[in-house]
Amino acid sequence: MSLARVVDAALEGSVLGSFTCLGYGVRRRLGSWEAPGRLDGRVALVTGATSGLGLAYARGLAALGAETHLLGRDRARVEAARGRIVEATGNDALRVWVGDLAEPRGVAALARELAGAIPRLDVLIHNAGAIAPARALHDGVESTVATQLLAPYLLTEALHDALAAAPPGRVVLVASGGMYAEPFDLERLARLEGPFDGVRTYARVKRAQVVLARAWARRWPAGVVSVVALHPGWTDTPGLARSLPRFYRALRPVLRTPDQGADTGLWFAGAAGAPSLSGSFLFDRRPRSTERLPRTRSRDPRGDEERLMGWLAGLAADAAGPGSEHR
Ligand SMILES: NC(=O)c1ccc[n+]([C@@H]2O[C@H](COP(=O)([O-])OP(=O)(O)OC[C@H]3O[C@@H](n4cnc5c(N)ncnc54)[C@H](OP(=O)(O)O)[C@@H]3O)[C@@H](O)[C@H]2O)c1
Repeated sequence: MSLARVVDAALEGSVLGSFTCLGYGVRRRLGSWEAPGRLDGRVALVTGATSGLGLAYARGLAALGAETHLLGRDRARVEAARGRIVEATGNDALRVWVGDLAEPRGVAALARELAGAIPRLDVLIHNAGAIAPARALHDGVESTVATQLLAPYLLTEALHDALAAAPPGRVVLVASGGMYAEPFDLERLARLEGPFDGVRTYARVKRAQVVLARAWARRWPAGVVSVVALHPGWTDTPGLARSLPRFYRALRPVLRTPDQGADTGLWFAGAAGAPSLSGSFLFDRRPRSTERLPRTRSRDPRGDEERLMGWLAGLAADAAGPGSEHR
């Protein structure tokens, strides 16, 4: 085993050393990471492109030469992000899309519009997300589930043919190490009543994103559409400062910068061998275990995938409305 692998494994054992900028710095140097591959002539779409990691993904993709579509829920904020990225990169092949991903019916309509407007899509980064302070429902779906699970499902399914037209189309679900705390639990994901815990709901949704990546990877050949979930590491973003203020204040000196947090997604977008990792949970450019605690281990991973896909297909059909054909 190489020294880089030995040190990586030791880091992996210590969450603090691994998830902070310390882990990033050590792995990058020991692994002699190359700069992410150029994306000239490629087309990319990033959700939540207005802030934090999403802004870093979009800026990174534009800097690498991709025609980049920015999706956000507030037109003024997305236009401002566009202006900043054009100024920083000189790439003005940037298009703005507006939609609140917490609203399933609106997302279903937006997904159809995007599929009509983008015939070829090389990279799709599902980054939008947050920890909800309280339960909020839109079209009968809880907002964390709607934004980070159903919206990626609707958008990816609608854009499947565009992704397949750019073989291999590459899809990233920006999950979180927070998912290690929760098992896959569809019954709890679907629950709309009773006490609400925003942090645990977020962790369950992130766990489900990992299951979703695996399910798509089983359905779609990696050479046609390759899907991964990833952990960006603990990253200094407005979202982290807002949702976990004490954690943020305590760890701020060692948090990753947004560019460091975005590294693995940008690497996956262009690296030649990366599509073969379809179905993996990536962190710092490598597939990682999806389990750290015995109590989160599933007895039926295949069954989890099937149940999740069935549930999401039902929600997607509801969001699309009567008479719409959902592929
Ligand atoms: N920061 C970390 O340490 C960390 C660690 C693990 C995983 N992550 C994941 O990384 C992703 C980005 O988080 P961040 O830390 O960069 O947070 P952030 O600074 O708050 O950025 C979140 C982005 O998502 C957008 N968004 C949220 N809800 C939306 C909705 N309903 N419709 C459309 N867009 C929506 C936000 O738009 P507005 O500008 O309109 O609010 C913003 O662009 C999230 O999925 C998060 O779970 C972050």
